[in-house]
Amino acid sequence: MGKHWADFQYEIYLNGMTGAVPRLPTDLTRLEELTEQRLGPGPVGYVAGSAGNGSTARANRAALERRRIVPRVLRDVHERDLSVEVLGRALSAPLALAPVGVLSIMHPDAETAAARAAAAQGVPFVLSSASSTPMEQVAEAMGDAERWFQLYWPRDPEVARSFLNRARAAGFGVLVVTLDTPLLAWRPRDLDQAYLPFLHGVGTANYFSDPAFQAGLARPVHEDPNAAVTHFVQMFADPAKTWPDLAFLRENWDGPIVLKGVLHPDDARQAAEAGMDGVVVSNHGGRQVAGSVAAADALPRVAEAVGDRLTVLFDSGVRTGDDIFKALALGARAVLVGRPYVYGLGLDGGPGVEHVIRCLLAELDLTLALSGHATPRTIGPADLADGPV
Ligand SMILES: Cc1cc2nc3c(=O)[nH]c(=O)nc-3n(C[C@H](O)[C@H](O)[C@H](O)COP(=O)(O)O)c2cc1C
Repeated sequence: MGKHWADFQYEIYLNGMTGAVPRLPTDLTRLEELTEQRLGPGPVGYVAGSAGNGSTARANRAALERRRIVPRVLRDVHERDLSVEVLGRALSAPLALAPVGVLSIMHPDAETAAARAAAAQGVPFVLSSASSTPMEQVAEAMGDAERWFQLYWPRDPEVARSFLNRARAAGFGVLVVTLDTPLLAWRPRDLDQAYLPFLHGVGTANYFSDPAFQAGLARPVHEDPNAAVTHFVQMFADPAKTWPDLAFLRENWDGPIVLKGVLHPDDARQAAEAGMDGVVVSNHGGRQVAGSVAAADALPRVAEAVGDRLTVLFDSGVRTGDDIFKALALGARAVLVGRPYVYGLGLDGGPGVEHVIRCLLAELDLTLALSGHATPRTIGPADLADGPV
């Protein structure tokens, strides 16, 4: 029998006997508003903001909300197990924390606190290339816990190779290559405040600590930080990359490789043909292409095209346990969650991240049971109706 995540609700009610209530809301859709109230406008704008007028972020939510679960009754759900196998790994639940850069703008404990929280709850942590903490330090904080490395594929192949070698040496088991950010999108909330943390050397820790990156500088980072930032900006991404370039990653990474930011079934097919192991159906939480298809609308077509050949993961818009249920029903093997855990971090540090994970999985466990399932493996398209919101 797996752990019953739903028991978190009894823990909350029992703690209530002494007058205690949760420090953060258990309806995670409320975290954004709280963060807007409590944190500074620069960081909040960076995290909550999206591309353009926010239409893609809204579409992500609407596409999940529109789908409705059709619960089934009189099925034995007293013993439940949320565990799933993902990319050869046994996960205790179909959830991972999405790669999110620059977490120090939300909380001084940044990636280390989020990674520890993920480890404590047995959920994989995906570390961003643009983290504010070097990958080795995050790895050390996690012990043996499951961790994946997200690559922003730099222009300089030596830096790319060095990142992959460092990540492997630090125990990151899966490579997640983000393909939807060859350029930074038009993001009015950041533009209106002229707020971009990288220009202040925040979110550059993996680069500034990298020997191959340092080799491209005339003077050490601490002696000329502006030159280091300029070098970072020039090599951070490469809009000239095309499908044949994936061979480089295959040659330099011997574990699973997952392409993040895939929305078209033909791109997913090409990923399979290129020998990749998985895709993350994602529009970067609506932060890249304004007017983009909602990620949840793209998911079933991608799953249909490659679900038997690739591990299909999903993110963008997941806020609640029932959202995870819906994503699984639409064909995802597991789901990544972004902003909610970042709000949890901003509002309450590591315990805030644990709160978010526990709420999501308690709600998923209950949704599963109350819909007539004892395991995520039996969830499918028949559990959903396309209905009015
Ligand atoms: C503040 C912020 C920073 C992000 N940084 C990265 C990043 O460094 N690498 C990456 O692949 N995705 C990044 N993402 C995208 C997330 O991995 C994920 O795709 C997205 O947050 C999912 O949507 P959600 O926030 O609605 O859950 C970022 C998202 C946010 C909100």
